Amino acid sequence: MKIGYDEKTHIFRLESGDMTYAMFVTDGQGFLGHLYFGRTPGEDDLRYLARVRGDGVPGAEARDRCSFLDSFPQEIPGNGVGDLRSPAVSVTDREGRAVLQPFYRSHRIISGKERLAGLPSTFGSKKDAMTLEITMADDAAKMTVILRYTIFDGIPAVVRSTEVINDGAEPVTLDRAFSCSMDMDLPDARMLSLNGSWGREKRKQLQPIGFGTQSVSSLRGISSHQAHPFIGILAENARQETGEVYGVNLIYSGNFLAQTERDQFGLVRVQAGIHPKGFAWKLAPGEHFQSPEAVIVYSSEGLTGMTHAFHKLYRGHLMRSPWLHRERPVLINNWEATFFDFDLEKLLTIARRAKKEGIELLVMDDGWFGRRDDDNTSLGDWTVNEKKLPGGMKRLSDELAAIGMKLGVWFEPEMISPDSDLYRAHPDWAFSVDGRTPCRARNQLVLDLTRKEVRDAIFDQIAAVLDSADIAYVKWDMNRPLTDVATHAADAQAGGLFHRFILGTYELQERLITRYPELLLENCSSGGGRFDPGMLFYSPQIWTSDNTDAIDRLTIQEGTSMLYPLSTMGAHISVSPSQAVGRLVPMMTRGHVALAGTFGYELDINELPEADAALIPAQIVLYHRFGELMREGDYYRIASWQDNHVCDCYCVVSGDKSRALVTWVQVLCEPNVHCMRMRIPGLDPDRRYRITIASPEVREDDHTGNFLHEGELSSMRGFLNATLTGCTLAGAGLLMPMLRGDFRSVLIELQAE
Ligand code: DGJ
Repeated sequence: MKIGYDEKTHIFRLESGDMTYAMFVTDGQGFLGHLYFGRTPGEDDLRYLARVRGDGVPGAEARDRCSFLDSFPQEIPGNGVGDLRSPAVSVTDREGRAVLQPFYRSHRIISGKERLAGLPSTFGSKKDAMTLEITMADDAAKMTVILRYTIFDGIPAVVRSTEVINDGAEPVTLDRAFSCSMDMDLPDARMLSLNGSWGREKRKQLQPIGFGTQSVSSLRGISSHQAHPFIGILAENARQETGEVYGVNLIYSGNFLAQTERDQFGLVRVQAGIHPKGFAWKLAPGEHFQSPEAVIVYSSEGLTGMTHAFHKLYRGHLMRSPWLHRERPVLINNWEATFFDFDLEKLLTIARRAKKEGIELLVMDDGWFGRRDDDNTSLGDWTVNEKKLPGGMKRLSDELAAIGMKLGVWFEPEMISPDSDLYRAHPDWAFSVDGRTPCRARNQLVLDLTRKEVRDAIFDQIAAVLDSADIAYVKWDMNRPLTDVATHAADAQAGGLFHRFILGTYELQERLITRYPELLLENCSSGGGRFDPGMLFYSPQIWTSDNTDAIDRLTIQEGTSMLYPLSTMGAHISVSPSQAVGRLVPMMTRGHVALAGTFGYELDINELPEADAALIPAQIVLYHRFGELMREGDYYRIASWQDNHVCDCYCVVSGDKSRALVTWVQVLCEPNVHCMRMRIPGLDPDRRYRITIASPEVREDDHTGNFLHEGELSSMRGFLNATLTGCTLAGAGLLMPMLRGDFRSVLIELQAE
């Protein structure tokens, strides 16, 4: 890892892993140019990459300054001065003038990486992180812009952010402050995004990067189910394990925009940041604004290399929970079991049976507070409904403790029901525009968390509940997009309410984990509507989707795990047929798919068919056996059911390469197929691995799909219990037979000799 600045050429080089990020300062006024981002080149003068002729940078008086600016690869393009592509930073002054061009002034190279105040952000020590801080200024506009770039030892990534300061005597409006902007040479590249909807989160979409602008964005106040604050850029021919791939991921949970803009000369501007729409941040004289951070990853080893860089960065430099490396308790959540229809006895009946099977924590979901028997009421009234839970939270947690179970509780702190005591007392605490009936979603409104008194009132209620009993876990839900975003607070003119709202949410979560450092927090937003790195700063796990059907989960978990470690994905076994899609999936397969996340159950264990319930203890044994491997190991995607329409396969290899677990799911059975070759990457090529099946039970007369048949097992006999070198497994691979029936799965364990 090193950051260097060449006094002669004015080139900055940031190097980590096999990645180099290079910029330079032009002579004269000091434009900051983007030179290169990719595999580490030789120690050459890279200025030719700026495509400027001769000593080439025109001064202020040059007659072709406009064409220079409109083609020069910039690090921080301003607005209204000649670069007519998308700006990265833009301000409007009182007279409505929108003109800004920051120039280089100075820089500092600092060991380590500070966290950002009030925002989720990466961190690093003096030993494992270095930061370059470049100060830019526009003297005419009286604005300073500070760009920060951090690299982390051994990780091919740069973390960037932008700070804007108003040095003038007049207030200005900051229209845009993107976290990153790079003008890159990307001929024939493709853009990867993760899109979807409720129950269909994070599906891959790959499209050529054409001329003009292509973007993914959210204006929903959350990062959203529909889009994700990520774009991948795949060079021509880049694939899962080969070729150059770039990934841009925003550490942010609110409105965002991430885009590519191919210009008239073929250069691609890649940008990501807070969505400028609805932003309009008022900056008074002397005030500053700090953007969220963008993580920019380079991989020369295809998508797998990108995934590893994100996982390493998030595990080592973003997630802080003491639970990060701990085995999480196996939980059972009552939502899909009871919805709102539960009481103390029903919960305890579930808990007693759950305990018997080896489950450790009961999560009481929505419906325990106020008068909430359906989703029309009581958000904001965080007091126990004693009709359902006589003796309150304390009695429930005591009874659970007597059974040997821990208690987890659901909250939705950002919301208010119009039918609630809180709303009746403080109708102005909900976002709404005077004279307009606010738009309800799930019959609820959004609390104005931009106001401190609102945050305090909600926090005090939550703390009173948590202090009243032994509560080990909180599920923090958020179930609607933001609309009617207007405040009734005194400083209503401040602007930027969407951003102020998410800052309010961050502040509440920070307070929660500071006051309850041992609390296991799981974020959620109608499933995976806010599964992003911003939230991972506060909670080590997030509910991945309300769709718990194991086959749909393959796709959802593939998209999610492309960026986020498996240990972050809430993954529960639910009933078959699935409540979301009515699909019948063997209990065995449901268990195997849920192993790739924070494992639990989302069903009424007393209503489960005995044949399914009988498998639970063995599933929990598997979770304990492979939990550490799944949590800490390196994840390799082998086959994607989204792409091949037949089977899904992934493998997790321990850091020391001594063991690995391959999950293979045959989604649809096809006739007349002998076998499918699965190459197993990531192993030590020189070591020999013994190959076994994790649950090899054979039952000839079984048609549940939960057991293998003799014929199926014997077609794997060629490699089962054999030892093969990592080299053979990576090159020749395993030949997986076609199993009878759909939705079958096998877990293959590889143990180095
Ligand atoms: C949406 C969540 O995703 C579900 O798991 C559940 O907690 C419901 N909300 C409760 O209202």
